[in-house]
Amino acid sequence: MKVVIDCDPGHDDAVAILLAAGHPDVDVLGITTVAGNQTLERVTTNACVAATVAGLRDVPVVAGSNGPLLRRLRIADSIHGESGLDGPAPIEPTVHPAAGHAVDFIIDTVLAQPGEVTLVALGPLTNVAIALRKAPALAQAVDRISIMGGSWTRGNMTPAAEFNVWADPEAAAVVFGAPWDLTMVGLDVTHQALYTDEVAARFEGLASPAARWLGELMAFYRDTNRAVHQMGAPPVHDPCALAAVIDPSIVPTREARVDVETAGTHTAGMTVVDFGRRADAGSHHVGVGLEADAFWSLLANAVAALPLER
Ligand code: BDR
Ligand code: CA
Repeated sequence: MKVVIDCDPGHDDAVAILLAAGHPDVDVLGITTVAGNQTLERVTTNACVAATVAGLRDVPVVAGSNGPLLRRLRIADSIHGESGLDGPAPIEPTVHPAAGHAVDFIIDTVLAQPGEVTLVALGPLTNVAIALRKAPALAQAVDRISIMGGSWTRGNMTPAAEFNVWADPEAAAVVFGAPWDLTMVGLDVTHQALYTDEVAARFEGLASPAARWLGELMAFYRDTNRAVHQMGAPPVHDPCALAAVIDPSIVPTREARVDVETAGTHTAGMTVVDFGRRADAGSHHVGVGLEADAFWSLLANAVAALPLER
């Protein structure tokens, strides 16, 4: 499976990069970055760090949009820290950003191999929306897109809105409104991917540099999630959207129409999910659950397969 990962690392984005690198069926064509969890500069450095740890030496990391389409950038440093990837001792990346812009990279890569590339979007949807506006043919040319974002029950930034959609609702409205094969993996799914002590023990048992790094990332991320969201174990959101395309049985879906609220005083960034009446009118696949054991096994096996040297 050929994959382009658009992301804003971010602890859970970094874990998704480890999953992509270590899974035998995934061929990472590129990693593109978007401002979100931290500034564009920091998330791009972090993507290079994650690619370094994952052993993705020849995979281009391409920087993209430095803020939302209309709104000001509001980063998530209360969760991801000042660097965007706080916790482990800093790592000097041996992967460096490639030339060019994420939007062009996405367009060129997808159009060069029609029907073959899966887009996995793990941050605000700014790059993807601009790519659609610049090259509408993208919607037909991708195999599919899997998005970590939204929810049909609750938010994590506001009662109604999840961070990635809340950060750039106008971009999300473009992306959810496009005619393509779209899977939404929202908080309803990812709040079942909890990094409990039991899960942590599985990664400690692997005793590799990548597993150790993951453990250090998760220790910081657990503490900030406790402080900000009062969650005992943190939800590891972003790898769920990749797991959903690697093995669809891990994320069961239902068909639904999804609209993005852009105007609400209290609900901007909400994904309004209609499983009923209008489910066939512009339908998307909406994640409704997670096979948690299978998810953690998928991730642990991928991390175990990563190179021991970096
Ligand atoms: C999403 O927001 C970000 O902080 C995470 O990386 C994830 O993509 C969860 O709401
Ligand atoms: Ca993210």
